[in-house]
Amino acid sequence: MRQHPPEFSMTCIVNSAPVVQITAAVKHYRAPEGHAVRALDGVDLCVGGNEFVTLLGPSGCGKTTLLRVISGFEALDGGELRIQGQQMNEVPPHLRPVHTVFQNYALFPHLSVGDNVGYALDIRGVAKAQRNRQVADALELVGMAGLEKRKPGQLSGGQQQRIALARAIVNKPALLLLDEPLSALDRQLRQSMQRELKNLQSELGIAFVFVTHDQEEALTMSDRIVVLNGGHVQQLGSPEDIYDRPANAFVAGFIGESNLFDGSVTRHHGDAVEFLTAQGDTLRLRRADLAPGQKLQAMLRPEQFHLACPGDPARHACLEGRVLQQVFIGKDFELSVRTQHGSPVKAVLRAPSRELMGTLEAGARVQLWYATDAPHLLLA
Ligand SMILES: Nc1ncnc2c1ncn2[C@@H]1O[C@H](COP(=O)(O)OP(=O)(O)OP(=O)(O)O)[C@@H](O)[C@H]1O
Ligand SMILES: [Mg+2]
Repeated sequence: MRQHPPEFSMTCIVNSAPVVQITAAVKHYRAPEGHAVRALDGVDLCVGGNEFVTLLGPSGCGKTTLLRVISGFEALDGGELRIQGQQMNEVPPHLRPVHTVFQNYALFPHLSVGDNVGYALDIRGVAKAQRNRQVADALELVGMAGLEKRKPGQLSGGQQQRIALARAIVNKPALLLLDEPLSALDRQLRQSMQRELKNLQSELGIAFVFVTHDQEEALTMSDRIVVLNGGHVQQLGSPEDIYDRPANAFVAGFIGESNLFDGSVTRHHGDAVEFLTAQGDTLRLRRADLAPGQKLQAMLRPEQFHLACPGDPARHACLEGRVLQQVFIGKDFELSVRTQHGSPVKAVLRAPSRELMGTLEAGARVQLWYATDAPHLLLA
């Protein structure tokens, strides 16, 4: 059983030289009400040179604070920040090889697209011909070539987002920070921008640190995800790690739907153990290493429950209950069940026939089975 995946340690386990190394980062704010807010409370994070890392967590967990610390708009109260191996704690924002894309795009409304994108180059006094070439290249990369003369007000939301991206990459930063850049877009545009952003990141070969509230977005786009809560890293790992092997009940509950059973191991049963839940249901777990008396939480995702118990019980175990509700979720059905002993269980049935679902109305008896090696275990 593991509580944290190996990447959780302070060591960088990434395939390329780290662009960001944060060690024991602490950031306090003094709230106007007088008390201190520990927005970051000992955060360790390492980002590889061409990694797509997503910060995910509930409102107020410290995502924006962490981005602002990396970009230099906030100073750390404790800990260390290194970018490309160099200590950056005291380095001002404009001297860091970092650019931030904000949720509201922050374009200058009175400047043309070309001047918005070229702004940072103009400030640095880059020669006109080179400046124009870089602006054209950046616009080309985001699929907005030829719109240099428009004003931001003459563009759609998605186009404004692309301009904000072009402005961010024109300076060829080593690291792009993106704070909920897609949250203002409608679902369809958001999905196509997700793909574009991911392509852009691999084309540029630079690191992205991306903030989102949206777990689906995090799971589909990221190489690794940092789950934050209350200024603490709850887990740092690949999308598969986070989804299949959440480090604790917070992550299990925050990412995807989960059925969490509290209880303790009662006895050995062949190469498995019996696990009695607090509600009184018995689960079987194919884990011979667990000793009777061991308290833990067992997690099963809704899609790990299947209908109608198989005849051969060697690798499977059943729960019986009654249907509370069935909900059509677009080809699949979500079934809410109450077990014999009263535990609520959610199961997702993949594209079942309408005829079958007709037999699973509220009140119907139902048998659900799961593979005995499916439950993910969390130490209580
Ligand atoms: N300037 C500030 N003064 C006081 N407290 C602050 C300040 N900025 C942020 N905080 C507090 O620090 C904590 C972390 O805020 P942060 O903006 O990093 O959260 P977040 O994860 O980005 O949230 P959201 O998803 O809502 O954007 C919150 O409790 C917030 O109220
Ligand atoms: Mg924020």
